[in-house]
Amino acid sequence: MDSSHASTAVAEQDSAVQTAIAQLFGPDGRADPYAPARVLREAGPVHQTPLGHHLLTRYDDCVAVLSTTAWSHAEEAGMMHPTVKPEDAPEELPTSFLWMEPPDHTRLRNLVTKGFTPRMVTRLRPRIEELTEQLVDTALESGEFDLVELIAYPLPLIIACELIGVPKEAYQQVHQWSQDLARGFDHDYTLPEEALKARSAGSRGFMGYFRELLNERRKDPKDDLLSVLSQVEDRGDVLTEQELLATCITTFVAGHETTANLIGTGMLQLMRNPDQIAALRARPELIPATPDELLRLEPSVQITTRAATRPITVAGHDFEQGEGVVVLINSANRDDAAFPDSDRIDVARYSDPKNPAKKHLGFSLGIHYCLGAPLALLEMEILLEVLLRKVRDIELLTDTPPYKPNVVIRGLEALPTRFTPA
Ligand code: HEM
Repeated sequence: MDSSHASTAVAEQDSAVQTAIAQLFGPDGRADPYAPARVLREAGPVHQTPLGHHLLTRYDDCVAVLSTTAWSHAEEAGMMHPTVKPEDAPEELPTSFLWMEPPDHTRLRNLVTKGFTPRMVTRLRPRIEELTEQLVDTALESGEFDLVELIAYPLPLIIACELIGVPKEAYQQVHQWSQDLARGFDHDYTLPEEALKARSAGSRGFMGYFRELLNERRKDPKDDLLSVLSQVEDRGDVLTEQELLATCITTFVAGHETTANLIGTGMLQLMRNPDQIAALRARPELIPATPDELLRLEPSVQITTRAATRPITVAGHDFEQGEGVVVLINSANRDDAAFPDSDRIDVARYSDPKNPAKKHLGFSLGIHYCLGAPLALLEMEILLEVLLRKVRDIELLTDTPPYKPNVVIRGLEALPTRFTPA
């Protein structure tokens, strides 16, 4: 190839890469961020965005970043939310342990971990089953309905509220605040003014409301996470009120929106692939590991970010100390080098003990690995069990269900569905 052809090819690749980046983060890219992610992955392991951020596309490189303390989640906050001034942070975006590093991260995470032991999650099974049956029965009575509205949101919302200790009359309000905060995980640069305002209002609303509930629990403790944490706070040196409030809010938002999105996008994939529903009916022993395959294909948290704590080389790129990187979970989870035939849904992928699939990055890795993963997986698993038992036909009523505008915490706005009873 002569040099003019070579430079044309580079220019074409650059423009394909820039188009893919625009699609991945732009408003039209919600339905299928995986096609542009593939373009980027095939073009190279690392790309620079117009904002100067570096994107990592390949599984092994994303694993390398997430699993080492050479990369921190603490120092990158300004990268995604440059409009939040540090002096505003306590009220506007309280810093939870999601954005801390040891030793503070360890201290706070250990406290919440007490509320999420595998034993406690297993104890929730009967309650999740009861609630799921009620929600599915209501949907069956409607026949045609929006699965996001009737199942995907209420199931994790009600379980999270019961666990944390939010009373029924506040469900609607905390749901709204939670949605506004989830949208606010997107880069400030991409958010319209009203979304930034809603995020601040949601954060203030949550803080004030949880402060009130906490005062009540101090006087009159109950069997919920707020009461457990309020007693720890009383010991003063372990947890400040600000940390406690931020911890409750993060646990609520991280658990509610993400699980709702897994249920919505997960059910969409199954409805688009009826052979996979048939496989689950024929071999119900595949159900427990199916949620992992659904989340690998459609990670509710599509991207995360880290900053280098020291000079370090990843994917052949030299990062300076303090430099940020965007970990494309949506790309890593569909890297054929890690997951053969990666775009294909295979409900048996995580069920074969002789040929275990690699861990997907839907719950991240390393010290920030999702604390609620067992709960989220259990809710999805129980929903599948109940659906296969009670519903004969699960039908999708549209080819193009609408998505929320969110880039980071991505999910469906609605999922028109028809159920026929078994
Ligand atoms: C499908 C559902 C869920 C998904 C996809 C999900 C995803 C994630 C991811 C990707 C992270 C790490 C972010 C990072 O490394 O930058 C995370 C952290 C976290 N998640 Fe989840 N999550 C889900 C459900 C839940 C639930 C149900 C809860 C609690 C009730 C929860 C609580 C948390 C908390 C507290 C953290 C912070 C952990 C830390 O920083 O040490 N999540 N989650």
